[in-house]
Amino acid sequence: MKKVLVTGALGQIGSELVLRLRKDLGVDNVVATDIKRIEDNEVVTDGVFEILDVMDYNKFLQLAKDSNVDTIIHLAALLSATAEKNPQLGWSLNMQGLVNGLEVARELDAKFFAPSSIAAFGNDTPKDNTPQDTLMRPSTMYGVTKVAGELLCDYYHTKYGLDTRSVRFPGLISHKVLPGGGTTDYAVHIYYDALKYGKYTSFIAEGTYMDMMYMDDAIDAVVDLLNADSSKLKHRNSFNIAAMSFEPEQIAASIRKYIPNFEMDYDVDPVRQGIANSWPNSIDSTCATEEWGFEPKFDLDKMTKTMLDELSKKEI
Ligand code: SER
Repeated sequence: MKKVLVTGALGQIGSELVLRLRKDLGVDNVVATDIKRIEDNEVVTDGVFEILDVMDYNKFLQLAKDSNVDTIIHLAALLSATAEKNPQLGWSLNMQGLVNGLEVARELDAKFFAPSSIAAFGNDTPKDNTPQDTLMRPSTMYGVTKVAGELLCDYYHTKYGLDTRSVRFPGLISHKVLPGGGTTDYAVHIYYDALKYGKYTSFIAEGTYMDMMYMDDAIDAVVDLLNADSSKLKHRNSFNIAAMSFEPEQIAASIRKYIPNFEMDYDVDPVRQGIANSWPNSIDSTCATEEWGFEPKFDLDKMTKTMLDELSKKEI
């Protein structure tokens, strides 16, 4: 990986991944793209940034060719709750955007990364310590696009020899940019509201366990997987990766170690609760550890301390 094009670069993952890649590869070797520009954002102001709608295959191809990239990281997608509100748009953007990305990668013989998710699992998947290879029959449109996407990326690998790689992200928690329309977003909002109001109303019910990860570990995972020795990868699309699993009361208890009077109540959103209920409680990332050395550094308390420290420095 020497020169990378990133789609969805202004989203929650892209905003941090682009900065890391600029450090690793050099500012001129990262082409950040998104469907619109956000002024005063360092992704836009401090390096190469281009407007790109991933549905526009010709522009996608032209930009990748002109920039002579050897790797494409395709992050542009609708998240679970947003895709459930507009399933047709979810299918069309998540699948056609992916097909376009894969075709561009095939034209350039570029390495290709597109994230999958814990959403790829469904109600009949084993809930605890979910294995790498298991039943995957999701009930959400987002999950349907993730399973189809995994299969498509594997297909491009076996059919065309394309170097496709991916991880199944859990809920990602970060302080730079808010997630846009996911089910796990409560675990980000809770930190903002804890600092701002000293209380939080959770849209996810007490006792609902989901896998979560601090963004630094997620960024390391993308970079480490892309740099991994191809011959060691038995799996490709997509690796389970896991750092922590908790339910709302546990993240609240972790926050209370720093903000003792923090209070939480519940106003459960049936749509997002339904999505959460269909996902695993915790997943097993042994294959990622064995095949490319995945090892998370943040547990719940370390993440809580970092989130509260960092958000305290920001105007929120
Ligand atoms: N964080 C994502 C979501 O909730 C999971 O991939 O949609």
